[in-house]
Amino acid sequence: MNTGKLTVGLGARAYDIHIGPDILEQTGALLSPLLSRPRTVIITDENVTAAQGDRLKAGLLAADIDFDIIVLPPGEQTKSFAQLQHVTERLLETGVERTDTIIAFGGGVIGDLVGLAAALLRRGCRFAQIPTSLLAQVDSAVGGKTAINSVHGKNLVGAFHQPCIVLADTRALETLPARQMRAGYAEIVKYGLIGDADFFGWLERNGAALLSQGGGPKRAHAVKTSCQAKARLVEQDEREQGVRALLNFGHTFGHALEAVYGYCDTLLHGEAVAAGMALAFDYSVHQGLCPPQDAARVKAHLAASGLPVNISGLPPSEALNADHLIALMMQDKKVEQGRITLILAEAIGKSVIVKDASIDSLKSFLRETTAS
Ligand SMILES: NC(=O)c1ccc[n+]([C@@H]2O[C@H](COP(=O)([O-])OP(=O)(O)OC[C@H]3O[C@@H](n4cnc5c(N)ncnc54)[C@H](O)[C@@H]3O)[C@@H](O)[C@H]2O)c1
Ligand SMILES: [Zn+2]
Repeated sequence: MNTGKLTVGLGARAYDIHIGPDILEQTGALLSPLLSRPRTVIITDENVTAAQGDRLKAGLLAADIDFDIIVLPPGEQTKSFAQLQHVTERLLETGVERTDTIIAFGGGVIGDLVGLAAALLRRGCRFAQIPTSLLAQVDSAVGGKTAINSVHGKNLVGAFHQPCIVLADTRALETLPARQMRAGYAEIVKYGLIGDADFFGWLERNGAALLSQGGGPKRAHAVKTSCQAKARLVEQDEREQGVRALLNFGHTFGHALEAVYGYCDTLLHGEAVAAGMALAFDYSVHQGLCPPQDAARVKAHLAASGLPVNISGLPPSEALNADHLIALMMQDKKVEQGRITLILAEAIGKSVIVKDASIDSLKSFLRETTAS
């Protein structure tokens, strides 16, 4: 199967996710029923508009939808107060009304920023997610988390605001740089690891083809399976009070690693998540929760996909030591009275939320790991 439609069942906030190779050309037809008048505003970044902008514009014009376009600089720095102000003022200048729908066209940076702008604009207008990176298609475009960064940390200023539709065009991935593809792939592997051992087995057999040129149909299957898994968790727990936390598998370790490098291109989010998932498996083995052969299998697949699986495989940095990593993990919002909530693994496809992991045992594990 290489095209498909899913629904995120959130009652009054329910929306569809369309996945396939020619979705951009169909944007106007898919969006029209949701528009109060035939106009919209596209917010995108310079890379995405250069690589895929013409396809989206043609898709809108085919349905006689008029549009303005706001192009922002690419990169994580765009998730800032300055760009949020710029975007909202520009949107108001274009005459956006409360019942209009705006379009986030890009990777997770654009999706997160535009989602927040939509939540704020006239106290909330609708927005469509048109994710163009693999990470955005399988993760950030679904679920309604929006945010910008603060000087105090990543994603600290945000809102829950669900999109009104998600359009994932898998052909758009053909212009995504290979390293960004691999980083997005780490989040796909995550869905297998947290709850779907069969999907992980499929990825072991098909991951290399999916990452290579011509992997289109396999990409569509992986995007669909990932969105389905995320949608089911979001439906059960929209505001992350319980099971949605499973999506953070590998992320407590991963966020600490990202912070070591200052959230820059030295280590991409997906790369940090890959190393973080490997560490989560190793720590689960260390705690006697998980058989060592499962951890070995996970690391073999991530490594074969060109992703880091241990601390020694990361770019050198003085800040990459156990004490500093622990200090960074302690800043996690899930720390209470010397205990930390971690998502650990009992096996491939079987993750658990451990609410009272001991900081001391984590420290000794990280000391052993960083020393080896
Ligand atoms: N809201 C959520 O639930 C959630 C979940 C995960 C990650 N995120 C956020 O997502 C962001 C990372 O997203 P990302 O990895 O997509 O990064 P990104 O948006 O920076 O995109 C990566 C790079 O690829 C380029 N690009 C994107 N699509 C392209 C295409 N089709 N062709 C050519 N170039 C293309 C972009 O211009 C950029 O340079 C982070 O800020 C992270 O916090 C949010
Ligand atoms: Zn992630």
